[in-house]
Amino acid sequence: MRTLRTVGELRAALAPARAAGSTIGLVPTMGALHEGHLSLIRRARQQCDVVVVTLFVNPAQFNEHSDLERYPRAERHDAGLAAEAGADLLFAPSVEEVYPPGFATAVEVLGLTDRLEGATRGASHFRGVTTVLTKLLCMTMPRTLYLGQKDAQQVIVIRRLVADLNLPVEIEALPTVRERDGLALSSRNALLDPSARHRALALSGALRAAEELVADGERSAQALLDAAHAVLAGASVQPDYVALVDHRTLEPLAELDRPALLAIAAPVGRVRLIDNTTLEPTVLSPSSSGKATTSCIA
Ligand code: PAJ
Repeated sequence: MRTLRTVGELRAALAPARAAGSTIGLVPTMGALHEGHLSLIRRARQQCDVVVVTLFVNPAQFNEHSDLERYPRAERHDAGLAAEAGADLLFAPSVEEVYPPGFATAVEVLGLTDRLEGATRGASHFRGVTTVLTKLLCMTMPRTLYLGQKDAQQVIVIRRLVADLNLPVEIEALPTVRERDGLALSSRNALLDPSARHRALALSGALRAAEELVADGERSAQALLDAAHAVLAGASVQPDYVALVDHRTLEPLAELDRPALLAIAAPVGRVRLIDNTTLEPTVLSPSSSGKATTSCIA
């Protein structure tokens, strides 16, 4: 695996593969790689001839400076993990390479970004995500973009972006990888002290509680949200939001009468965590209900 720093180097490295008609897979990350990221790289390895992993802690999407400052960074370690998982190229540009002096363009998806994470973190967060992803897609021109369902709203927003701008890329969204006890893997988990790590379990616990109610036939959004809130309150976790929304439009639902996303964001200890699950109005047993959107690390 080669590590590249400039757009010119990346384009030059990909040119022969592109000329030969090889398929290119793109896995964008902000580093501090864990099994969630690696699941995306491994899938890209199975499906594409050339796998590009990008490692860029994108300042434009951080709404809090302190979050950006303490975001975990471990490029050397990440490079080893990415290579082992099957990456061919690691693109790790500087901030100046991505945002050179005079940079003045933003790409924004309207509406969908006002909700959930956008409502809490402000418009700049998704504007930062959509702008950097548009740039990474233009730099790499992949056939397939690999994203994690862990950031469900990000997937929905990027699908909209790709459709609206007619970008010639297909999107693969892969299930959330979790610790055995249910905690969704996140680079920010490294910043949890043992007591916060324990309280963080309330997020996945709240999702499971709602899934169990759905499996028992409950369809009222209020009842599902109440159950999730009760689990969070039991761990003294005060969420930024717990929301049951349409899985495509992100409109709040009063009833689970269509496929829906149950999404939670909450500050725990020094970090802010997010988690979600997909709920369907069809009856599922609790043991099978999470399978489509969740997988456990071995
Ligand atoms: P980052 O948080 O590093 O995540 C990179 C990719 O890994 C995203 O698609 C994310 O959804 C996925 N991912 C994170 N945790 C996961 C888990 N537990 N299971 C499965 N996939 C998981 O998301 C970003 O970076 C940035 O916004 C980015 C897309 C790179 C743009 O800057």
